[in-house]
Amino acid sequence: MQEIVPSLLSADFAKLEEEIRSVEKSGATRLHLDIMDGHFVPNITFGPFIIKAIRKMTDLHLETHLMIENAKKYLDNFIDAGSDTVMVHVESSNDVIRDLKYIRSKCKKSGLVINPPTDFSAIEPYFDYIDHLLVMTVNPGFGGQSMIEEALEKVTKAQEYQKDRDFLIQIDGGVNMKTIDIAAKTGVDLLVAGSAFFSNDNHNKAFQEMSERLN
Ligand code: DX5
Ligand code: ZN
Repeated sequence: MQEIVPSLLSADFAKLEEEIRSVEKSGATRLHLDIMDGHFVPNITFGPFIIKAIRKMTDLHLETHLMIENAKKYLDNFIDAGSDTVMVHVESSNDVIRDLKYIRSKCKKSGLVINPPTDFSAIEPYFDYIDHLLVMTVNPGFGGQSMIEEALEKVTKAQEYQKDRDFLIQIDGGVNMKTIDIAAKTGVDLLVAGSAFFSNDNHNKAFQEMSERLN
């Protein structure tokens, strides 16, 4: 069953706990956490300290999307903070297999992320090491961007590898009521929704309306 995953990036951090409770109440089971360092992407968000605080508040599956340089150096911090899935970008890691194996060795789900301009062949060597593939459908850095629909082709390609392996495929960026149908049609497992969830005054309604369009 396909599932919407709210991304905290567009939440109101002045009322963090309330925002997290609204995710729980919507029926979502996962929360997407965007970590940006101002180097790998031109924006800065938050770090392990905030994840630790969120971990204390909720049992939602916390998926940590690392948009940082030198992710290896900080993996322990994000793992120890309470992430359930930790994702590294194929564009930023200088040893992808080492990083994915390390995440798994700490009993966490290992995720790999690919940006829209990056060729699918860049991730082909790594399918045996992942529990999660995140296909970016915007160039990472900001919420509220328009979906780059051509990137959805990578979902179809990855599904070939999914046939004899056990991992989830997720898309990230520009998922909203306008794009939900085309996105759902790919058969992707998980769909991140940041602004479409948190910028709607009624988070629950936004979640239900998008979920109704999923398979
Ligand atoms: C973008 C982030 C996304 C972001 C998506 O760099 O990785 O997770 O929160 O935001 P929306 O859903 O608004 O495109
Ligand atoms: Zn993300």
